[in-house]
Amino acid sequence: MRTMRHGAVRLAERRRPAVPPDSVALLAALPVPVILLDAANRIRFINHAAEQFLGSSAAAATQFGLADFLAADNPLFLLVDQVRQHDARVADHDMALEGPRLKRMNIAVQGAPLAEEPGAVLLVLHDATAARALDRQLTVRGAARSVAGMAAILAHEVKNPLSGIRGAAQLLEASVAEADRELTVLIRDEADRIRDLVDRMEAFGEKPVQYGPVNIHRVLEHVRRLAQTGFAASIRFTELYDPSLPPVYGNRDQLVQVVLNLVKNAAEALSDGAVESPEITLLTAYRHGMRLAVPGSSRRMELPLVVTVRDNGPGIPEDIRPNLFDPFVTSRAAGSGLGLALVAKIISDHGGLIEVDSRPGRTEFRLHMPIFPEDPA
Ligand SMILES: Nc1ncnc2c1ncn2[C@@H]1O[C@H](COP(=O)(O)OP(=O)(O)O)[C@@H](O)[C@H]1O
Ligand SMILES: [Mg+2]
Repeated sequence: MRTMRHGAVRLAERRRPAVPPDSVALLAALPVPVILLDAANRIRFINHAAEQFLGSSAAAATQFGLADFLAADNPLFLLVDQVRQHDARVADHDMALEGPRLKRMNIAVQGAPLAEEPGAVLLVLHDATAARALDRQLTVRGAARSVAGMAAILAHEVKNPLSGIRGAAQLLEASVAEADRELTVLIRDEADRIRDLVDRMEAFGEKPVQYGPVNIHRVLEHVRRLAQTGFAASIRFTELYDPSLPPVYGNRDQLVQVVLNLVKNAAEALSDGAVESPEITLLTAYRHGMRLAVPGSSRRMELPLVVTVRDNGPGIPEDIRPNLFDPFVTSRAAGSGLGLALVAKIISDHGGLIEVDSRPGRTEFRLHMPIFPEDPA
């Protein structure tokens, strides 16, 4: 640490502006906190938003180092070191910042190296977007739990009498007059519909699942085939896969469920014929730098595997976006609103993360997943 401080003095003496002046003006105006550290973690520059964030003027802050704001064991130091080590961008989506001058808060951080200044790290902090999205995921987890409890009760209390009703209707079907048969068929069909709903809710149950290496391309292929021979027969599929991708750490059947739900939603968004050439794109990529806190520990897990389901449909209706992943949120008359809640639960059980981007003409669900043999526990 001490030797590094020496380096800092050298850097300061050089007085080379880290960014051209017009960029400084840009950075200053950015509504998100931006902090530039030199190679010794001294603060070289902060913008207005960072002044507010740190509760310190730029003039004062540049007298300090990061260590004056944060406890020495704060994971932000690790992130900064990683940026330097890999000379690459690193992001963290749920970092607790706490220190002598800061009250505890959870933020998302992105760190990036500066090409023209070795050791310098640019930090961009967000407390809203991704961090809140994560909160949402955790809430979804809670909601899914209560749904799980409900599902267990439903399974017990509804399914048995239901099969009685269905059986009785079937018996009647054989003996009633032709004109009344329509009614017994109706009873049977509706009983089936309730059973399907209960089955779907049962999927939220906490049944133990086996995790292992899963070839995500096989999962995607399987779903694409299901889709193209069934509900998405008239939609063009494009696959952009990174063939060198390592296996994801997870459960194959659950991952099929996840991708199937996303592809189904995409197909449904494209089904009204409004889009001229409806298309679903499946992409995989390996990308460093997405990390997530392991709940209850200071460990961070890498989520380098990115699976994207994209469609060129109308986009997610504005009014349901804030609660998109909550159970029973749907814009479709026949929808259950359980698809994305289930997706969120499974991905969160896998230790992964979902991101959504949606605008008319392009909706994208991105799954960030751990690779095998990472241990998600
Ligand atoms: N790719 C998409 N394009 C547009 N809207 C979508 C997309 N995926 C999901 N949605 C919206 O999210 C809602 C919830 O989806 P989901 O949880 O799967 O429930 P359901 O499909 O039963 O409605 C859908 O009703 C739809 O409005
Ligand atoms: Mg759905």
